[in-house]
Amino acid sequence: MKVSVIGTGYVGLVTGVCLAEVGNNVTCLDIDEEKINMLQLGKSPIYESGIEEMMEKNLHENRLSFTTSYSTACERADVIILAVGTPSNPNGSANLLYLQKAAENIGKHLIKDGTIIVTKSTVPVGTNNKVKQWIQQSLTEPIFFEVASNPEFLREGSAIQDTFEADRIVIGTESRYGTHVLKELYSPFQIPTLQTSLESAEMIKYASNAFLATKISFINEIANLCEKLDADIEDVAKGMGMDQRIGPQFLKAGIGYGGSCFPKDTNALVQIAGDIEHRFELLESVIRVNSSQQIKLIGKALDHFGSLKGKKAAILGLAFKPNTDDIRESAAIEVIKTLLHYGATVNAYDPVAIPNMKRLYPESAEIQYTSTAYEAIANADMIFILTDWEEIKELNLPTIAELEKKPVLFDGRNCFDLRTIQKSGLTYHSIGRQI
Ligand code: UGA
Repeated sequence: MKVSVIGTGYVGLVTGVCLAEVGNNVTCLDIDEEKINMLQLGKSPIYESGIEEMMEKNLHENRLSFTTSYSTACERADVIILAVGTPSNPNGSANLLYLQKAAENIGKHLIKDGTIIVTKSTVPVGTNNKVKQWIQQSLTEPIFFEVASNPEFLREGSAIQDTFEADRIVIGTESRYGTHVLKELYSPFQIPTLQTSLESAEMIKYASNAFLATKISFINEIANLCEKLDADIEDVAKGMGMDQRIGPQFLKAGIGYGGSCFPKDTNALVQIAGDIEHRFELLESVIRVNSSQQIKLIGKALDHFGSLKGKKAAILGLAFKPNTDDIRESAAIEVIKTLLHYGATVNAYDPVAIPNMKRLYPESAEIQYTSTAYEAIANADMIFILTDWEEIKELNLPTIAELEKKPVLFDGRNCFDLRTIQKSGLTYHSIGRQI
C-alpha cells in the first residue's frame, strides 16, 4: 500500500519505518526541513535501538522516503497517518493546533478518492470528527475520504519490538471500508485487532495510559506503607502480580512515572472529564501521588542529614527511564531543582541524556556533568539513583564504600539486592524496603 505519515516524532517515525519494513511504500512528512534532511541521510533524530538500521535498509530498497511537501505525501496515498504532537495546554488539555494544521493541509492536497486518514496522535474523544470537518472544509474539489482512529501503544526504548509484538491493534472506523483497508495494512504484523467506533478507540488510549499510571501510583503508595510497617514492596508486588487478575507488570515501585505520555495523558483525561462536568477524583489522586513520589528521596535525605546545604549530590540517571535520552517530566528535573533549592550542589551522570538536561540546567558552579558514574560519585556526600540503567545497576558497591566520604546511597529504583547492600557496608535508602 501507499502510506504517508505526517509527523516524524517518536510515533510517526517508528510507524513509518515499520510499515515500510513489512513491504509498504511509505512517505514520511515533517515541516521541519532540517529534520527531513537528516532523515534522508538515514540519521534518526530519536534514540531508539535498531531504528537507523531499519531506516537504512528501507531507504536503500526505495520503500521509505522523507519529504516536506504535502502534495508529494497526499497525492496518491491509500492511507495517511497523522502522528503530529498534541502537547499540553497550560490547563492540561491537549493542544490540537498541529493536528488541525496537518488536517487542513491534507484537505488542500487530496486529489484521489478513497484515502483513509488515520489519527495516531493521542487526542480527546471526539477529535476524529473534528479532523473530518477540518479536511472537508479544506478540500478544493469534492473527494471521498474517511477518517479512522488508530491509537499507538508503543513504549520509548522498545518501540520497534512493541510495534511488531503488540498485544492489540485498535481500529476505530466510520465504515466497513475503513476497517477493511486498515486490517489489510496491519495484516503482516499478525496481531489481534479490535474494531470499535471512533470515540471508543480514542478513549481506549487515554484509559490504558491512565490505568497504567494508576497501577504505578498505587504500588508507590503501598511502598510508602511498607516502609512504615516493616513489609517489603518487592515481595508484596510479586505476591500481588501472581494473581492473574492483577498481573505483574507496572508494579515496580520507585520515584514515579515520567515521560512524554503518562503525565500529559493523565492531565488531559482529568481535563476531558472536567469539560463534561465530571470530576475524575481517582486520577487526580494518581497525579498528586506521582508528584510527591518524584521527590520522595529528598525527604529521606533531609531526614538523614538534617540539612542539605553545602552537600554534594551525585545524580545517576537523568532520563525518565532507561534506554532513552528523553528527560521530559523525568523525576531528575524535580530532584535537581529541589536539591539546588536546599543549597546542595550536583554532579550529574547519564549514559545518553546529558545533552538534553544541559539545555535545562546548563553547567554552572552548582551543577556539573560527568562522563562516568564513578566520576560523579567521587567526592559526593550522597548518591541519588534516578534511572535504572543496566550500567548503574552494575555499579561496584565495594568501590563506593571505599571512597573517603562513604556517600549515602538513595536508590529511587530499587536497583540493588538488600543482602548485597548489607555486605557492602553502605548506608542505603530505597523505596518500600527495610535495611
Ligand atoms: C507509555 C505506555 O507504556 C505505552 O503503552 C504508550 O504507548 C506510551 O506511554 C504513549 O502513550 O506513547 P512510555 O512513556 O514510553 O510508554 O514508557 P513506560 O515504559 O510505560 O514508562 C513510563 C514511566 O513509568 C517511566 O518513568 C517508568 O520508569 C515508570 N514505571 C513504569 C514505573 O515507575 N514502574 C513500573 O512498574 C513501570
